[in-house]
Amino acid sequence: MSGTSGYAFDNTSEHAGGRFDALETCYDPVTFARLTELGVGVGMRCLELGGGGGSVAGWLADRVGPTGSVLVTDIEPRWMDGLPERGNLHVLRHDISTDELPEDEFDLIHARLVLLHVPERLAALDRLVRALRPGGSLVLDEFDCGYVPVLASPWPGAAELFEKMHDAVMGVVTRAGADIHWGLHAYAALRGAGLVGVASSTYAESWRGGSPGSRLHQVNMRQLEGRLVEEGLTEEQLDRCLRLLDDPAFAVNSYPLITTWGRRP
Ligand SMILES: C[S@@+](CC[C@H](N)C(=O)[O-])C[C@H]1O[C@@H](n2cnc3c(N)ncnc32)[C@H](O)[C@@H]1O
Repeated sequence: MSGTSGYAFDNTSEHAGGRFDALETCYDPVTFARLTELGVGVGMRCLELGGGGGSVAGWLADRVGPTGSVLVTDIEPRWMDGLPERGNLHVLRHDISTDELPEDEFDLIHARLVLLHVPERLAALDRLVRALRPGGSLVLDEFDCGYVPVLASPWPGAAELFEKMHDAVMGVVTRAGADIHWGLHAYAALRGAGLVGVASSTYAESWRGGSPGSRLHQVNMRQLEGRLVEEGLTEEQLDRCLRLLDDPAFAVNSYPLITTWGRRP
């Protein structure tokens, strides 16, 4: 971790790869469809902020072609080491909380699930807006972590156990500086930062036990295990909850992914 970032899910952990796999499986199709609709195309100069495993950056690089370019940043970019070489894709270790960006540079800036974790998210947003060229677009994919109803529960008390575990995970990330409802706050924030044509769209689905979405919950729990015990969960509850998330009779609503976009005038 660098700078003042409070990122709770440190990418130096062995669990980060599992998190990126789950996020990419669950949300890349949604992100790619939205970016396509918004007109990402040949020749554009793009910034992918907090690129994680790099799937969106790779997709953007293919989309903009050799006349375009993609800069992908992360505080810990090691998970992008395996990306195929592309002449138009550049990886940069960068902390959006503290490090500068070039101004008036990008036609498109995209970030998925990054500003949610950045305590200084409004200052970071201003920096991103300044990095856009006039007419350039900012697109944020962010969660509202407050809407995760259990849809099917295989045994009495299973929903309550999941909710207790989820509340504990949210407690840890909130104390690290996350805004777990940032997806709901992004629209007003983009307007407040001076963008025009601000709009949003929300995607959600059911996640069965054993699905990639359930694995996202599992990997988050495993990475935070020690702190979840400090939050009051027992080892036995953690084990039962991990097994619940493997049970296909269990289902929970996915985190709603709220995509919000706007243009620099
Ligand atoms: C939940 S992951 C999402 C990864 C990727 N955007 C995705 O959706 O698949 C959050 C990512 O943001 C990065 N990150 C967290 N704080 C950051 C900061 N201050 N500056 C840049 N990247 C940051 C993390 O290292 C991590 O890769």
